[in-house]
Amino acid sequence: MLSGGTPSAEPTASKEVAKTATSSAAPAMAAEVAPPPPPKPDPAYVVAAKTRKKIPFWAMATLSLLPVWAFFYLLAVSPQEREATGPMAIGEAVYGACASCHGAAGQGGAGRVLHEGEVLKTFPHIEDMLNYVYTGSQPFVSAGLAVYGDPTREGGAHAPLSYNGNAMPSQGETWGGGLTNYEILGVVCHERYAIGGADPKSEQWAAEFATWCSEDSEIFAALQSGAVNFDTLAETFSMLETPPREIGTQPRASK
Ligand code: HEC
Repeated sequence: MLSGGTPSAEPTASKEVAKTATSSAAPAMAAEVAPPPPPKPDPAYVVAAKTRKKIPFWAMATLSLLPVWAFFYLLAVSPQEREATGPMAIGEAVYGACASCHGAAGQGGAGRVLHEGEVLKTFPHIEDMLNYVYTGSQPFVSAGLAVYGDPTREGGAHAPLSYNGNAMPSQGETWGGGLTNYEILGVVCHERYAIGGADPKSEQWAAEFATWCSEDSEIFAALQSGAVNFDTLAETFSMLETPPREIGTQPRASK
């Protein structure tokens, strides 16, 4: 039979004992300990070391981020890591809508073959290709033009609707197409330089690439900003070293 009061009585008692023991022992111990000897004065160089400005605590954390910074710095400055922008990048994206007929690599399908120099044979000058992609097949037929592109084309001139009778859909606004002028330039750059086989570093194509398709093409920038269009571009840029020829938005024979 345990009563509720009994267990609590014992801890209280032992606490009191402990208290008494401590208070009686403390003065005795304090008396035995000798006063500490006065500290030796620090030499001047130790004082200097102790009092000079320390490296702040956050410096270590900051320094530990140095490799991270170095990684991104190298990523940013190495040219091969840079993302492509400008006409070629836009053209690659726009070409997605052309690939269903012309093939992802320009190998042809419902639309004509573009790769291995084929499209360059049809359009030795980029201006004529811009005009044709803007316009499409039907306006050439309506205008009674027997040929589009180079009439002396190696392998024979291309007549509108001569490829299984299929039409190249009009891309420019005048003819109900959905592409802006700069998008047409972008996709034409892609077809000539990424698919068609023109080498931007070659003597034959370097000037055309720099003027129309490079990242710092002034013509592309002016089309993108809306400062010029396919009708006004030739006149605006007539001062360039390789001045552009007329493009136009109406079907026309290649020059
Ligand atoms: C619906 C299918 C189709 C689509 C989509 C299409 N094309 Fe075509 N494309 C053709 C056909 C067909 C021809 C040949 C037209 C003719 O004979 O009149 C052609 C011809 C061309 C030519 C001339 C090639 C040559 O050497 O004669 C170019 C350049 C061209 N297309 C660019 C484009 C571009 C750029 C796009 C996307 C913006 C595109 N095409 C989308 C069907 C298509």
